[in-house]
Amino acid sequence: MKYLILNGSTRRGNTWKIAGLARERLLERDAAAVFEEIHLSELQLPFCIGCSNCFRLGGQYCPHWEKLIRVLNAFDGADGIIVASATFNLRETGMLKNLLDHMCYLLHRPRFFTRKALVITSVGGVGGGSAAKSIAGTLLGIGFNRCYRLSLGTASWNAYAPGEKHKSRIKKATDRFYKDVASGKIHYPSTSILIPYNLFRGMGVNYAPGTEYETEDGIYWIEPRRQKRAYDTDIPLTIIQKAVGGIFYVLGKTFGKRSIVTYKKSLEITGLPSERIDM
Ligand SMILES: Cc1cc2nc3c(=O)[nH]c(=O)nc-3n(C[C@H](O)[C@H](O)[C@H](O)COP(=O)(O)O)c2cc1C
Repeated sequence: MKYLILNGSTRRGNTWKIAGLARERLLERDAAAVFEEIHLSELQLPFCIGCSNCFRLGGQYCPHWEKLIRVLNAFDGADGIIVASATFNLRETGMLKNLLDHMCYLLHRPRFFTRKALVITSVGGVGGGSAAKSIAGTLLGIGFNRCYRLSLGTASWNAYAPGEKHKSRIKKATDRFYKDVASGKIHYPSTSILIPYNLFRGMGVNYAPGTEYETEDGIYWIEPRRQKRAYDTDIPLTIIQKAVGGIFYVLGKTFGKRSIVTYKKSLEITGLPSERIDM
């Protein structure tokens, strides 16, 4: 199995210690496990400038695509993904939030349907759970099949030393994640994922080629495998889920028609060459 460890912390501190123990546990379970590391502090991804090229034209039109594609390729190439972050102001670090901002277009056009994640947050005292929930929310929204969460209170800025209780919690969470990744099992999506997916599916057809305001969303959602099914073809669905998805598809299509999003931007706002912001 191949694992990616994405370190969203600004340094290799408390959070990295926890991620390191998770990695050790994965190696205990599978001596042949292979790891790739991405440290966001080294990736140096500039802030998302809000040009919306990714939504309208495609991710490859992001001015920071060369850096973003490194992470997306690593997601594609891993069986299991560990996303680790310190808790800053009750959320993930700004650095990780910035990466997730760059992935927002994938909420419109999800793609990582068979991927599974373990989200690890460390926290001084308060907010680690909400930070983990925030990260997992985005990962599930861009398609991830399952996200396990682990949040540990470090009560220290620098000298965190995981005790037996924390080691046991790390082992437990890592084992659950490992078993799921190794099983290759694909889970049914939750209703909270199915609803936005199908609203986007319905809204998306209003942007298809040949409509007044064509975008990448339109191209993505009119693909026959997406048009005909309430979730990706790799993922199982119950009959009820198919019906619920169908209802929200119709709602998205109907109400989406009434308010077309145009992403009009001015040069002063984006600072990008005019050919990229001509709509
Ligand atoms: C800018 C900043 C904001 C923080 N915000 C919180 C917070 O909201 N709640 C909390 O309990 N701890 C907070 N902390 C403490 C860290 O979450 C905690 O020390 C964490 O283990 C640091 O992880 P790291 O060593 O990987 O950077 C904050 C620390 C910093 C530097």
